[in-house]
Amino acid sequence: MGDRLKGKVALLTGGASGLGRATGELMAAEGATVVLTDIQEVEGEKVAADIAATGATCLFRAQDTTSEAGWEAICAEILDRFGHLDILLNGAGVGGAGGDLEEMALETWRHCLAVNLDGVFLGCKHGIRAMRQGSGGSIINISSIFGVAGMSQSGNYCASKGGVRLLSKAAALECAKKTPLVRVNSIHPGFIDTPMVASAVQRRGQAFSDYIDNNVPLGGLGQPMDIAEGVVYLASDAAGFVTGSELVIDGGFLAR
Ligand SMILES: NC(=O)c1ccc[n+]([C@@H]2O[C@H](COP(=O)([O-])OP(=O)(O)OC[C@H]3O[C@@H](n4cnc5c(N)ncnc54)[C@H](O)[C@@H]3O)[C@@H](O)[C@H]2O)c1
Repeated sequence: MGDRLKGKVALLTGGASGLGRATGELMAAEGATVVLTDIQEVEGEKVAADIAATGATCLFRAQDTTSEAGWEAICAEILDRFGHLDILLNGAGVGGAGGDLEEMALETWRHCLAVNLDGVFLGCKHGIRAMRQGSGGSIINISSIFGVAGMSQSGNYCASKGGVRLLSKAAALECAKKTPLVRVNSIHPGFIDTPMVASAVQRRGQAFSDYIDNNVPLGGLGQPMDIAEGVVYLASDAAGFVTGSELVIDGGFLAR
């Protein structure tokens, strides 16, 4: 389709579903070699097979992003197999499960922070190391509109996504003066039509759907490809002067 990512090797966590899946499809269509990882093995294998059927090089590996050993293994395999890692999408994430802070179990807090923040930290750590063994690269961390603004009954999710926002900037500054260059940026999706939002709508009920309809200036839900386009831009050489930035793709939600 295009060649914006021709010759690049990309690792995408959360690649079995939603934003990660759409981004894998678009990256492959733009010429990248795509490695998808996720804890959902059956779905991940299926997505990778569908992408490979288009003629692209795409494979799936099971990976829990909260495990440091898992990061070491996947980065070593990519360097061994392809020789370089150029793009990392830290897309794996969980919703906060909802609930007032005064009722929230410490375990609920910790699980959300472990996947959404520890996992991204480990991704940055091992992604930077791997990219610096080649000619540098681009790391894109998926934060959220709720890494910028608060939302009630989502204290753990907001804390995790706010952490991703500033972790990304700190990483960008740390990498800026080193060669080879690794750029680090965050993306802040609004309400996007994925299984994560579908389960939040199911949990919170019609009031949540009404909230989305009434508060997104462009109306309703965005599509996973809306986010994939932003990721591909930040991953591409067209964004060579872009680091430490936060790309908001939210139908105008945060502009209000
Ligand atoms: N959908 C939205 O509206 C929206 C908005 C803002 C931010 N986000 C963020 O986008 C990212 C992708 O979410 P999505 O909407 O595509 O949801 P999704 O549920 O469709 O995809 C998330 C994927 O992450 C995987 N995952 C969960 N825990 C994991 C772990 N420990 N290790 C590896 N993989 C794991 C899941 O299996 C799933 O495939 C998340 O970080 C989410 O917080 C989504």
